Amino acid sequence: MNLPLLSNSKMRRSSLSRNHYFVIGLFLGLVLSFYVPQDIWELVQQEECPQEAAENSLIEKFGQEFEPHLNLINKPLAAKKTVKNVIRPRYYSSELGIREKIFIGVMTTQDNINTLATAINRTTAHLVNKIKFFINADNVKSNYKLKNIVGFTDTRENLRPFHVIKYIADNYLDDYDYFLIIQDNVYVDARKLNAMLYHMSITFDLYMGAKTEASNYGSYGANDQLPQQQRFMAAVAGENGAEPADGVAAGSNDEFRMLSDRNYCDLNAGILLSSSVIRKMRNNLDWCVRNGITNVHSINIGRCVKYSSNLPGCQEVFQGIQQRTYDLKSSVKLFKDLNLLTKDETFRNATTIYPVTTTDDFYRLHAYFSKYHLEIVQQNSAELELKSYRIANGSISNNILEIRWPLGVPLASAPETRHDIIMWHYLNRTHIFLPNAENNVEPLADIEAKDLEKILDITTQYAKHKFPNMQYEGIHSIYRRFDATRGMDYHVHLIMRETGRISALTQKSSQIKNFQIVKPLGRVEVVPSPYVTESTRIAILVPTFEHQLQEALQFINQYEQTCMHNQDNTFLLMIFMYRPDSESKGEMDPFKLIKTLALDLSSKYKTDGSRIAWVSIRLPAAFNEPSPAEDVMLNSLYGRDEILSIAVADLALPKIGLDSLVLMASNSISFKPDFLNRVRMNTIQGFQIYSPIGFMMYPCKLAGFCKECDTCDVSQSTGYFDKWNYDIISFYSRDYVQARKLVETSVPITRSDHDIEQLLTRADRSINHVLDMFVSSQLSVHILRGVEPNLRYGSAIRNLIDRRNYDDGIKAIPKCPLDTEDAAEAENPSSTKNSRRSEEATHKCIHMASRKQIGDAIIRYEDKSIIHK
Ligand SMILES: *[C@@H]1O[C@H](CO)[C@@H](O)[C@H](O)[C@H]1NC(C)=O
Ligand SMILES: *[C@@H]1O[C@H](CO)[C@@H](O)[C@H](O)[C@H]1NC(C)=O
Ligand SMILES: *[C@@H]1O[C@H](CO)[C@@H](O)[C@H](O)[C@H]1NC(C)=O
Ligand SMILES: *[C@@H]1O[C@H](CO)[C@@H](O)[C@H](O)[C@H]1NC(C)=O
Repeated sequence: MNLPLLSNSKMRRSSLSRNHYFVIGLFLGLVLSFYVPQDIWELVQQEECPQEAAENSLIEKFGQEFEPHLNLINKPLAAKKTVKNVIRPRYYSSELGIREKIFIGVMTTQDNINTLATAINRTTAHLVNKIKFFINADNVKSNYKLKNIVGFTDTRENLRPFHVIKYIADNYLDDYDYFLIIQDNVYVDARKLNAMLYHMSITFDLYMGAKTEASNYGSYGANDQLPQQQRFMAAVAGENGAEPADGVAAGSNDEFRMLSDRNYCDLNAGILLSSSVIRKMRNNLDWCVRNGITNVHSINIGRCVKYSSNLPGCQEVFQGIQQRTYDLKSSVKLFKDLNLLTKDETFRNATTIYPVTTTDDFYRLHAYFSKYHLEIVQQNSAELELKSYRIANGSISNNILEIRWPLGVPLASAPETRHDIIMWHYLNRTHIFLPNAENNVEPLADIEAKDLEKILDITTQYAKHKFPNMQYEGIHSIYRRFDATRGMDYHVHLIMRETGRISALTQKSSQIKNFQIVKPLGRVEVVPSPYVTESTRIAILVPTFEHQLQEALQFINQYEQTCMHNQDNTFLLMIFMYRPDSESKGEMDPFKLIKTLALDLSSKYKTDGSRIAWVSIRLPAAFNEPSPAEDVMLNSLYGRDEILSIAVADLALPKIGLDSLVLMASNSISFKPDFLNRVRMNTIQGFQIYSPIGFMMYPCKLAGFCKECDTCDVSQSTGYFDKWNYDIISFYSRDYVQARKLVETSVPITRSDHDIEQLLTRADRSINHVLDMFVSSQLSVHILRGVEPNLRYGSAIRNLIDRRNYDDGIKAIPKCPLDTEDAAEAENPSSTKNSRRSEEATHKCIHMASRKQIGDAIIRYEDKSIIHK
């Protein structure tokens, strides 16, 4: 025991510093023990175990107090400081202190709100970050059209600017860099103002505008009729009669004030203040109010700024930038003199123009300056274009400059692997070839056809202009490619023939001319959307027909695993669709099994608040027959009667409540918790509904091209995103009810089971499911559709195959009912609309395999038959 301690003590001396006297002592003791005289050594050796003896002697020597133990007496057992959770602001802009540029405060009056103030709002508000109108509101009328009005009940005129400053400081100081305070007779060229502010550094105090002329106070301030000397006295007395001493002092100091009251910014021209100056003014507001006793606002503000910020005076130029103002002479009439004024460079350069006395003049000025800026923009862009051509023409290689046609549109993105190559699609006038993994030819959708017509129109016109000696004969081919970073590219090959006498003689054959057309994407805009969380409770509606028992049971078992077990905040409402003559109670109830399971699970998870409920719907007489077996080949759970989804929603929503998030689901789906979170994030009350595009899995057992695998990632060989299935949709009840009311006339609302009949026999067939209903209602909500790999369809058909195999050992699978109907319809195409419907209908059939798989199989089959011969 001693020796290990010895070597340890050498190595870890520093860590043992508390005990190092002991360790050194021990070390020395042990070293000495080798040199003790023989006889003592022998004495020690006589003991039974020398090590034990040494130990005992040590303990004897030092006692047991060196055994380490924790001294917890009088020590708190829990950490004293509770760790505080850092509360982070919702927006990174608040955390980083990012502010917007400009706030405009307009001092106006109740009488001018509907005239001058509204004109300012119309000409300026949309160009600046924020605008507010300040009035004295002793008896305020509140029915103004203009919003953004702030009323002060303190009507002492000389204090108005300070109320404005205080209001701004209290509410907006941290949100904006600059504050422009104007009266309601100032036109602000906001574009110029913004451009100017973006060139200034915000780290300095700014008090900017047009300087007052010190010798001429009389012309400022509406209420100043008294001579200056008396005015000071009167103001002081009126303001603060109880303190005559102050008034005397002010009067006797007039001379001094005359001198120092120079160099203030003139409020008539607008005063621009940085937020730093406003902050300093707020801190000295008491002083400012006590000394802001004149009725001239410019002076009151000026004194306050000077006192608070130590700025020497109004800055007309700052960092080389000048804010120009323009004082309209009273003789100037804008309606006739504007042309003259525009020749004056100081007018054109002005950021504020004052005084403007009529609303018409505001609009005149605004029209002029808008045009002025538009011309500058056009001029700049033309120059830029020229410049880039000049550069492109020079010695710099185009690979560096990347100037491609058309200018300003990004190049197509370079594919990283061969899987990322964006394909060109071949088109003729009406059809697109190999548009997706399933189909060989598809007709162009309405909007695509229109787009193509327009493209062809423009191209043929251009061709005529470019080749005046040639004649357009027809289309050879068209290719199209969409690139999300660039836009839509077209390659159009036109057949052209030369005209004129010579060519008639030479009989030249026609030529093909190639044209490239680009429809670039506009600038991508971020749509601001309300804040949602992933904690919202979802009410999941699952309609079930009598023949879907097996799927429904599977669904509920899966629901238990995914949602109830994990305490995901959901609620399941099963909707049982009874045939007209089925028992709905007792032993014969076709849904008895489900009901038992639902009750069992509800009581099992009672403590978590999870539960499964059900609603029963009795279908009308038309559903007397058991549903045809081949309907399972349709992608919708409702088979051919997708309209029933609306009946289900109509009848079930009253049981759920107006503020709930509702997910209309299907019993033949499987999903992961991620999917529910996406539903929570993408469905926003009053703003957005969500229609996910789930992944339909091929019935692998049937076609034999793939292996069944529920947990695998989606892949081209195992299924496809079924964008023609609209069964799954999520929305807030309230939005549904609103939209539903808007289409009530064409699709009557189902209030009871008896109304379903009406729904089925409705005249207007343009609305077929809930998504249709939202689209037709034109309710102002976004509709988001997006692929959702965590939502899978296809269990119904898989069950069918399993059952058939089991029942009769043959793979007799029914044919999709719509395929046959289609053939009949195709022979007798009554209208284009009809044919489009049937086109849509073919997509309603579940696909068995991808085009590639089928193609491969055919080739393999043919190879074999060749070998056999
Ligand atoms: C004021 O301007 C805002 C922003 O441009 C605009 O939304 C609002 O309708 C305007 N109000 C009036 C009364 O013109
Ligand atoms: C007007 O602005 C332009 C460009 O900022 C400047 O070059 C010019 O000197 C200004 N003219 C006057 C009269 O201020
Ligand atoms: C490009 O350069 C050529 C000769 O180098 C010249 O003739 C032509 O004008 C230039 N084009 C432009 C747009 O500068
Ligand atoms: C486009 O191709 C489809 C399919 O081959 C064909 O039915 C259609 O007639 C063609 N349209 C034109 C305008 O040639």
